[in-house]
Amino acid sequence: MYSIDDFGWMIRDEPRMQAHVKALRAAVTPGCTVLDLGAGTGIFALLACQYGAGKVYAIEPNESLILAQNFAQANGFSDRIEFFQKLSTEVSLDRKVDVIIADMRGVLPFNSENIASMIDARERFLAPGGTIIPRKDTLFAAVYSSAESYQSIENPWIKNPYGLDLTAGVRFITDRWVSRGRKNNKLLSDAQSWGEIDYRTVSHYNLSGRVNLKVHSAGTAHGISVWFDAELAEGVSISNSPESVELVYGGAHFPWPKPVALAPGDRVSLKIETRKLGDIYLWRWNTEVFPSGSDHQASETFNQSTFNSQLISPQHLGRFTEQSRPKLSLKGQVEALVISLMDGKLTHGEIAHEVVSRFPQRFRRHEEALSEVTKISRRLSD
Ligand SMILES: C[S@@+](CC[C@H](N)C(=O)[O-])C[C@H]1O[C@@H](n2cnc3c(N)ncnc32)[C@H](O)[C@@H]1O
Repeated sequence: MYSIDDFGWMIRDEPRMQAHVKALRAAVTPGCTVLDLGAGTGIFALLACQYGAGKVYAIEPNESLILAQNFAQANGFSDRIEFFQKLSTEVSLDRKVDVIIADMRGVLPFNSENIASMIDARERFLAPGGTIIPRKDTLFAAVYSSAESYQSIENPWIKNPYGLDLTAGVRFITDRWVSRGRKNNKLLSDAQSWGEIDYRTVSHYNLSGRVNLKVHSAGTAHGISVWFDAELAEGVSISNSPESVELVYGGAHFPWPKPVALAPGDRVSLKIETRKLGDIYLWRWNTEVFPSGSDHQASETFNQSTFNSQLISPQHLGRFTEQSRPKLSLKGQVEALVISLMDGKLTHGEIAHEVVSRFPQRFRRHEEALSEVTKISRRLSD
Protein backbone atom coordinates (compact mmCIF):
# COMPACT_ATOMS: atom_id res chain seq x y z
CA MET A 1 0.00 0.00 0.00
CA TYR A 2 1.53 3.30 -1.07
CA SER A 3 1.75 6.28 1.30
CA ILE A 4 1.24 9.93 0.37
CA ASP A 5 5.04 10.24 0.49
CA ASP A 6 5.29 7.51 -2.16
CA PHE A 7 2.72 9.22 -4.39
CA GLY A 8 4.61 12.49 -3.96
CA TRP A 9 7.81 10.74 -5.00
CA MET A 10 6.08 9.43 -8.15
CA ILE A 11 5.00 12.96 -9.10
CA ARG A 12 8.48 14.30 -8.31
CA ASP A 13 10.04 11.79 -10.70
CA GLU A 14 10.37 14.19 -13.60
CA PRO A 15 11.47 11.84 -16.40
CA ARG A 16 8.60 9.48 -15.52
CA MET A 17 6.08 12.33 -15.38
CA GLN A 18 7.35 14.07 -18.53
CA ALA A 19 7.03 10.86 -20.55
CA HIS A 20 3.48 10.25 -19.29
CA VAL A 21 2.55 13.90 -19.94
CA LYS A 22 3.80 13.60 -23.51
CA ALA A 23 1.92 10.37 -24.15
CA LEU A 24 -1.27 11.69 -22.53
CA ARG A 25 -1.18 15.01 -24.39
CA ALA A 26 -0.84 13.16 -27.69
CA ALA A 27 -3.75 10.84 -26.87
CA VAL A 28 -6.29 13.31 -25.46
CA THR A 29 -8.56 14.96 -28.00
CA PRO A 30 -11.12 17.67 -27.09
CA GLY A 31 -14.08 16.17 -25.23
CA CYS A 32 -12.73 12.61 -25.20
CA THR A 33 -13.21 10.12 -22.36
CA VAL A 34 -10.20 9.00 -20.29
CA LEU A 35 -9.72 6.31 -17.66
CA ASP A 36 -7.01 6.93 -15.05
CA LEU A 37 -6.48 3.36 -13.87
CA GLY A 38 -4.70 3.07 -10.51
CA ALA A 39 -5.13 6.82 -10.11
CA GLY A 40 -3.25 7.25 -6.81
CA THR A 41 -3.68 10.96 -6.16
CA GLY A 42 -5.37 11.39 -9.55
CA ILE A 43 -2.42 13.11 -11.19
CA PHE A 44 -3.16 11.71 -14.67
CA ALA A 45 -6.92 12.39 -14.31
CA LEU A 46 -6.19 16.06 -13.51
CA LEU A 47 -3.80 16.36 -16.44
CA ALA A 48 -6.33 14.72 -18.78
CA CYS A 49 -8.84 17.44 -17.82
CA GLN A 50 -6.19 20.11 -18.35
CA TYR A 51 -5.58 18.74 -21.87
CA GLY A 52 -9.28 18.90 -22.76
CA ALA A 53 -10.88 15.56 -21.84
CA GLY A 54 -14.66 15.86 -21.48
CA LYS A 55 -15.07 13.00 -19.03
CA VAL A 56 -12.52 11.22 -16.83
CA TYR A 57 -12.92 8.14 -14.66
CA ALA A 58 -10.40 7.80 -11.81
CA ILE A 59 -10.23 4.35 -10.21
CA GLU A 60 -8.11 3.70 -7.13
CA PRO A 61 -8.78 1.59 -3.99
CA ASN A 62 -6.34 3.59 -1.84
CA GLU A 63 -7.52 6.39 0.49
CA SER A 64 -5.34 8.68 -1.65
CA LEU A 65 -8.43 9.10 -3.81
CA ILE A 66 -9.79 11.49 -1.16
CA LEU A 67 -6.85 13.74 -1.95
CA ALA A 68 -7.54 13.33 -5.66
CA GLN A 69 -11.09 14.62 -5.10
CA ASN A 70 -9.65 17.57 -3.25
CA PHE A 71 -7.28 18.34 -6.11
CA ALA A 72 -10.12 18.06 -8.64
CA GLN A 73 -12.07 20.68 -6.72
CA ALA A 74 -9.06 22.98 -6.30
CA ASN A 75 -8.42 22.84 -10.06
CA GLY A 76 -12.05 23.19 -11.16
CA PHE A 77 -12.31 19.65 -12.61
CA SER A 78 -14.85 18.12 -10.19
CA ASP A 79 -17.66 18.11 -12.75
CA ARG A 80 -15.56 16.16 -15.26
CA ILE A 81 -13.95 13.48 -13.04
CA GLU A 82 -15.91 10.55 -11.65
CA PHE A 83 -14.14 8.75 -8.81
CA PHE A 84 -14.34 5.09 -7.83
CA GLN A 85 -12.57 4.05 -4.64
CA LYS A 86 -12.36 0.40 -5.68
CA LEU A 87 -10.27 -2.02 -7.68
CA SER A 88 -11.01 -1.62 -11.38
CA THR A 89 -12.10 -5.25 -11.54
CA GLU A 90 -15.01 -4.36 -9.22
CA VAL A 91 -16.13 -1.35 -11.28
CA SER A 92 -18.55 -0.99 -14.21
CA LEU A 93 -18.45 2.17 -16.33
CA ASP A 94 -21.46 3.66 -18.08
CA ARG A 95 -19.52 4.22 -21.31
CA LYS A 96 -16.37 3.08 -23.10
CA VAL A 97 -13.26 5.25 -22.89
CA ASP A 98 -11.02 6.60 -25.65
CA VAL A 99 -7.84 6.51 -23.54
CA ILE A 100 -6.64 4.34 -20.68
CA ILE A 101 -3.60 5.60 -18.79
CA ALA A 102 -2.02 3.54 -16.00
CA ASP A 103 1.27 3.05 -14.24
CA MET A 104 0.64 0.13 -11.92
CA ARG A 105 4.10 -1.37 -12.14
CA GLY A 106 6.31 -1.77 -9.16
CA VAL A 107 10.01 -2.38 -9.70
CA LEU A 108 8.88 -4.70 -12.51
CA PRO A 109 5.59 -4.99 -14.43
CA PHE A 110 4.81 -8.25 -12.60
CA ASN A 111 3.32 -6.37 -9.72
CA SER A 112 0.48 -8.44 -8.26
CA GLU A 113 -2.49 -7.47 -10.46
CA ASN A 114 -0.91 -5.05 -12.98
CA ILE A 115 -1.15 -7.23 -16.09
CA ALA A 116 -4.47 -8.81 -15.05
CA SER A 117 -6.01 -5.38 -14.40
CA MET A 118 -4.70 -4.00 -17.70
CA ILE A 119 -6.22 -6.90 -19.63
CA ASP A 120 -9.55 -6.55 -17.80
CA ALA A 121 -9.63 -2.76 -18.35
CA ARG A 122 -8.75 -3.06 -22.04
CA GLU A 123 -11.40 -5.71 -22.63
CA ARG A 124 -14.23 -4.07 -20.66
CA PHE A 125 -13.58 -0.33 -20.85
CA LEU A 126 -11.56 0.59 -23.96
CA ALA A 127 -13.52 1.71 -27.03
CA PRO A 128 -12.52 0.08 -30.34
CA GLY A 129 -9.47 1.91 -31.69
CA GLY A 130 -8.81 3.51 -28.27
CA THR A 131 -5.36 4.29 -26.89
CA ILE A 132 -3.70 2.44 -24.04
CA ILE A 133 -0.76 4.02 -22.17
CA PRO A 134 1.67 2.25 -21.76
CA ARG A 135 1.69 0.31 -24.99
CA LYS A 136 4.42 -2.14 -24.21
CA ASP A 137 7.02 -3.16 -21.62
CA THR A 138 10.14 -4.98 -22.85
CA LEU A 139 12.06 -6.96 -20.24
CA PHE A 140 15.86 -6.98 -20.19
CA ALA A 141 18.57 -8.86 -18.33
CA ALA A 142 22.32 -8.42 -17.88
CA VAL A 143 24.99 -9.75 -15.52
CA TYR A 144 25.76 -7.35 -12.66
CA SER A 145 28.54 -6.87 -10.19
CA SER A 146 27.75 -5.22 -6.87
CA ALA A 147 29.84 -6.24 -3.89
CA GLU A 148 27.82 -3.80 -1.82
CA SER A 149 24.43 -5.39 -2.50
CA TYR A 150 25.96 -8.86 -2.00
CA GLN A 151 27.16 -8.01 1.51
CA SER A 152 23.85 -8.96 3.14
CA ILE A 153 24.24 -12.46 1.64
CA GLU A 154 27.89 -12.95 2.54
CA ASN A 155 27.45 -11.63 6.06
CA PRO A 156 26.16 -13.50 8.06
CA TRP A 157 25.08 -16.48 5.90
CA ILE A 158 28.37 -17.31 4.15
CA LYS A 159 30.84 -15.69 6.57
CA ASN A 160 30.25 -14.69 10.16
CA PRO A 161 32.57 -13.89 13.05
CA TYR A 162 31.04 -16.53 15.38
CA GLY A 163 32.45 -19.65 13.72
CA LEU A 164 28.94 -20.92 12.93
CA ASP A 165 27.75 -22.64 9.75
CA LEU A 166 24.73 -20.58 8.67
CA THR A 167 24.92 -21.48 4.97
CA ALA A 168 21.45 -23.08 5.11
CA GLY A 169 20.20 -19.48 5.18
CA VAL A 170 21.78 -18.61 1.82
CA ARG A 171 18.97 -19.83 -0.44
CA PHE A 172 16.36 -17.84 1.46
CA ILE A 173 18.29 -14.72 0.55
CA THR A 174 19.50 -15.59 -2.94
CA ASP A 175 16.43 -17.40 -4.30
CA ARG A 176 14.44 -14.21 -4.45
CA TRP A 177 14.84 -10.92 -6.21
CA VAL A 178 15.53 -7.67 -4.42
CA SER A 179 15.07 -4.06 -5.26
CA ARG A 180 18.61 -2.99 -6.10
CA GLY A 181 20.60 -0.03 -4.97
CA ARG A 182 22.46 1.61 -7.82
CA LYS A 183 25.57 2.62 -6.01
CA ASN A 184 28.67 0.67 -7.08
CA ASN A 185 26.54 -1.45 -9.40
CA LYS A 186 28.18 -2.35 -12.71
CA LEU A 187 27.00 -4.38 -15.66
CA LEU A 188 29.59 -6.91 -16.84
CA SER A 189 27.70 -8.19 -19.90
CA ASP A 190 25.62 -6.83 -22.73
CA ALA A 191 21.88 -6.47 -22.06
CA GLN A 192 19.38 -8.62 -23.86
CA SER A 193 15.63 -8.67 -24.07
CA TRP A 194 13.96 -11.81 -22.75
CA GLY A 195 10.32 -10.96 -23.43
CA GLU A 196 7.69 -8.28 -23.80
CA ILE A 197 4.23 -7.42 -22.56
CA ASP A 198 2.22 -5.66 -25.25
CA TYR A 199 -0.70 -4.20 -23.29
CA ARG A 200 -2.68 -3.75 -26.54
CA THR A 201 -2.84 -7.48 -27.09
CA VAL A 202 -1.55 -9.38 -24.04
CA SER A 203 -3.94 -12.08 -22.84
CA HIS A 204 -1.90 -14.02 -20.25
CA TYR A 205 -0.04 -13.05 -17.10
CA ASN A 206 3.19 -15.05 -17.39
CA LEU A 207 6.46 -14.47 -19.23
CA SER A 208 9.58 -16.51 -19.94
CA GLY A 209 12.67 -16.16 -22.08
CA ARG A 210 16.14 -17.43 -22.74
CA VAL A 211 19.19 -15.26 -23.48
CA ASN A 212 22.93 -15.63 -23.96
CA LEU A 213 24.71 -12.75 -22.29
CA LYS A 214 28.17 -11.85 -23.57
CA VAL A 215 30.58 -10.75 -20.87
CA HIS A 216 32.45 -7.60 -21.91
CA SER A 217 34.20 -6.59 -18.68
CA ALA A 218 36.28 -8.54 -16.17
CA GLY A 219 34.93 -8.58 -12.63
CA THR A 220 33.21 -10.50 -9.87
CA ALA A 221 29.61 -11.14 -10.92
CA HIS A 222 26.88 -11.36 -8.28
CA GLY A 223 23.80 -12.18 -10.35
CA ILE A 224 21.36 -10.93 -12.96
CA SER A 225 19.95 -7.43 -13.15
CA VAL A 226 16.42 -7.22 -14.65
CA TRP A 227 14.56 -4.12 -15.83
CA PHE A 228 11.92 -2.89 -18.26
CA ASP A 229 11.89 -0.43 -21.14
CA ALA A 230 8.37 0.98 -21.43
CA GLU A 231 6.97 2.36 -24.68
CA LEU A 232 4.22 4.74 -23.55
CA ALA A 233 3.32 6.03 -27.03
CA GLU A 234 4.94 6.40 -30.44
CA GLY A 235 8.46 7.72 -29.73
CA VAL A 236 7.84 8.12 -25.96
CA SER A 237 9.63 5.72 -23.64
CA ILE A 238 11.12 5.34 -20.18
CA SER A 239 13.39 2.70 -18.72
CA ASN A 240 14.54 1.60 -15.29
CA SER A 241 17.76 0.20 -16.76
CA PRO A 242 20.67 0.55 -14.31
CA GLU A 243 22.39 2.56 -17.04
CA SER A 244 19.55 5.09 -17.54
CA VAL A 245 18.65 8.02 -15.35
CA GLU A 246 17.34 6.68 -12.03
CA LEU A 247 13.52 6.48 -11.81
CA VAL A 248 11.13 5.93 -8.92
CA TYR A 249 10.75 2.23 -9.81
CA GLY A 250 14.32 1.25 -8.81
CA GLY A 251 15.46 -2.01 -10.39
CA ALA A 252 15.70 -5.72 -9.63
CA HIS A 253 18.65 -7.89 -8.68
CA PHE A 254 18.37 -11.66 -8.98
CA PRO A 255 21.44 -12.70 -6.97
CA TRP A 256 23.45 -15.90 -7.50
CA PRO A 257 24.20 -18.23 -4.58
CA LYS A 258 27.89 -17.32 -4.86
CA PRO A 259 30.00 -14.67 -6.58
CA VAL A 260 31.62 -15.76 -9.89
CA ALA A 261 34.76 -14.29 -11.44
CA LEU A 262 34.11 -13.47 -15.11
CA ALA A 263 36.38 -12.42 -17.96
CA PRO A 264 35.61 -10.79 -21.32
CA GLY A 265 34.50 -13.48 -23.82
CA ASP A 266 32.73 -15.59 -21.17
CA ARG A 267 29.08 -16.37 -21.85
CA VAL A 268 26.20 -16.53 -19.39
CA SER A 269 23.19 -18.50 -20.51
CA LEU A 270 20.00 -17.51 -18.70
CA LYS A 271 16.53 -19.02 -18.73
CA ILE A 272 14.14 -16.83 -16.79
CA GLU A 273 10.45 -17.33 -16.14
CA THR A 274 7.73 -15.71 -14.06
CA ARG A 275 4.33 -17.26 -13.46
CA LYS A 276 1.37 -15.79 -11.60
CA LEU A 277 0.12 -18.02 -8.79
CA GLY A 278 -2.85 -16.46 -7.04
CA ASP A 279 -1.83 -12.92 -6.22
CA ILE A 280 1.94 -13.47 -6.33
CA TYR A 281 4.46 -14.07 -9.08
CA LEU A 282 6.72 -17.08 -8.76
CA TRP A 283 10.11 -16.66 -10.47
CA ARG A 284 12.54 -19.27 -11.77
CA TRP A 285 15.94 -18.40 -13.21
CA ASN A 286 18.48 -20.96 -14.36
CA THR A 287 22.00 -19.77 -15.10
CA GLU A 288 24.95 -21.47 -16.75
CA VAL A 289 28.37 -19.82 -17.01
CA PHE A 290 30.55 -20.83 -19.98
CA PRO A 291 34.16 -19.63 -19.85
CA SER A 292 35.51 -18.22 -23.10
CA GLY A 293 36.35 -21.02 -25.56
CA SER A 294 34.41 -23.69 -23.65
CA ASP A 295 31.01 -23.67 -25.27
CA HIS A 296 29.67 -26.96 -23.94
CA GLN A 297 31.18 -27.24 -20.47
CA ALA A 298 29.54 -24.88 -17.95
CA SER A 299 31.82 -23.85 -15.10
CA GLU A 300 28.84 -22.90 -12.91
CA THR A 301 25.18 -23.91 -12.96
CA PHE A 302 22.56 -22.31 -10.71
CA ASN A 303 18.90 -23.32 -10.70
CA GLN A 304 16.98 -20.80 -8.61
CA SER A 305 13.37 -20.12 -7.77
CA THR A 306 11.53 -17.79 -5.43
CA PHE A 307 9.69 -20.92 -4.32
CA ASN A 308 12.92 -22.03 -2.55
CA SER A 309 13.08 -18.86 -0.52
CA GLN A 310 9.77 -19.56 1.22
CA LEU A 311 10.09 -20.77 4.78
CA ILE A 312 7.31 -23.33 4.36
CA SER A 313 7.36 -26.74 5.98
CA PRO A 314 6.29 -29.81 3.92
CA GLN A 315 3.40 -30.28 6.42
CA HIS A 316 2.16 -26.78 5.64
CA LEU A 317 2.34 -27.39 1.88
CA GLY A 318 0.45 -30.68 2.30
CA ARG A 319 -2.51 -28.73 3.67
CA PHE A 320 -3.08 -26.98 0.35
CA THR A 321 -3.39 -29.80 -2.15
CA GLU A 322 -6.53 -30.22 -4.25
CA GLN A 323 -7.55 -33.19 -2.13
CA SER A 324 -7.06 -31.70 1.34
CA ARG A 325 -10.21 -30.57 3.20
CA PRO A 326 -9.79 -27.05 4.63
CA LYS A 327 -11.24 -26.21 8.03
CA LEU A 328 -11.70 -22.66 9.33
CA SER A 329 -9.15 -21.45 11.87
CA LEU A 330 -10.29 -19.42 14.89
CA LYS A 331 -9.46 -16.24 12.94
CA GLY A 332 -11.55 -17.57 10.05
CA GLN A 333 -14.48 -18.37 12.35
CA VAL A 334 -14.42 -14.81 13.72
CA GLU A 335 -14.28 -13.39 10.20
CA ALA A 336 -17.14 -15.65 9.02
CA LEU A 337 -19.30 -14.50 11.96
CA VAL A 338 -18.54 -10.82 11.31
CA ILE A 339 -19.31 -11.21 7.59
CA SER A 340 -22.60 -12.97 8.37
CA LEU A 341 -23.60 -10.07 10.65
CA MET A 342 -22.68 -7.32 8.16
CA ASP A 343 -26.23 -7.05 6.79
CA GLY A 344 -26.56 -3.27 6.88
CA LYS A 345 -28.72 -3.40 10.00
CA LEU A 346 -26.29 -3.95 12.89
CA THR A 347 -23.73 -1.34 13.96
CA HIS A 348 -20.04 -2.14 14.31
CA GLY A 349 -20.53 -1.95 18.09
CA GLU A 350 -23.41 -4.46 18.02
CA ILE A 351 -21.40 -6.86 15.85
CA ALA A 352 -18.42 -6.51 18.23
CA HIS A 353 -20.73 -7.27 21.17
CA GLU A 354 -21.85 -10.50 19.44
CA VAL A 355 -18.22 -11.41 18.65
CA VAL A 356 -17.24 -11.08 22.34
CA SER A 357 -20.15 -13.23 23.47
CA ARG A 358 -19.37 -15.98 20.88
CA PHE A 359 -15.57 -15.92 21.29
CA PRO A 360 -14.97 -14.91 24.94
CA GLN A 361 -11.57 -16.70 25.08
CA ARG A 362 -10.28 -14.78 22.07
CA PHE A 363 -11.76 -11.34 22.85
CA ARG A 364 -11.78 -10.32 26.49
CA ARG A 365 -12.54 -6.69 25.83
CA HIS A 366 -15.15 -5.02 23.65
CA GLU A 367 -12.50 -2.63 22.17
CA GLU A 368 -10.42 -5.57 20.94
CA ALA A 369 -13.41 -7.08 19.12
CA LEU A 370 -14.45 -3.68 17.76
CA SER A 371 -10.99 -3.16 16.30
CA GLU A 372 -11.18 -6.57 14.52
CA VAL A 373 -14.72 -5.87 13.27
CA THR A 374 -13.84 -2.47 11.80
CA LYS A 375 -10.72 -3.98 10.19
CA ILE A 376 -12.90 -6.55 8.40
CA SER A 377 -15.57 -3.96 7.61
CA ARG A 378 -13.00 -1.57 6.10
CA ARG A 379 -11.92 -4.34 3.76
CA LEU A 380 -15.27 -5.82 2.82
CA SER A 381 -18.13 -3.34 3.33
CA ASP A 382 -19.59 -1.09 0.66
C1 LIG B 1 2.35 3.19 -8.90
S1 LIG B 1 0.81 3.84 -8.35
C2 LIG B 1 0.54 5.09 -9.56
C3 LIG B 1 -0.27 6.28 -9.07
C4 LIG B 1 -0.48 7.37 -10.12
N1 LIG B 1 -1.26 6.89 -11.25
C5 LIG B 1 0.83 7.88 -10.64
O1 LIG B 1 1.25 7.43 -11.71
O2 LIG B 1 1.46 8.71 -9.97
C6 LIG B 1 -0.26 2.54 -8.83
C7 LIG B 1 -1.62 2.57 -8.18
O3 LIG B 1 -2.44 1.60 -8.81
C8 LIG B 1 -3.37 1.14 -7.86
N2 LIG B 1 -3.94 -0.11 -8.39
C9 LIG B 1 -3.33 -1.31 -8.56
N3 LIG B 1 -4.20 -2.18 -9.10
C10 LIG B 1 -5.36 -1.53 -9.31
C11 LIG B 1 -6.62 -1.86 -9.86
N4 LIG B 1 -6.87 -3.08 -10.33
N5 LIG B 1 -7.60 -0.93 -9.88
C12 LIG B 1 -7.37 0.33 -9.43
N6 LIG B 1 -6.19 0.71 -8.90
C13 LIG B 1 -5.21 -0.20 -8.84
C14 LIG B 1 -2.56 1.00 -6.59
O4 LIG B 1 -3.38 1.06 -5.44
C15 LIG B 1 -1.63 2.21 -6.69
O5 LIG B 1 -2.11 3.30 -5.96
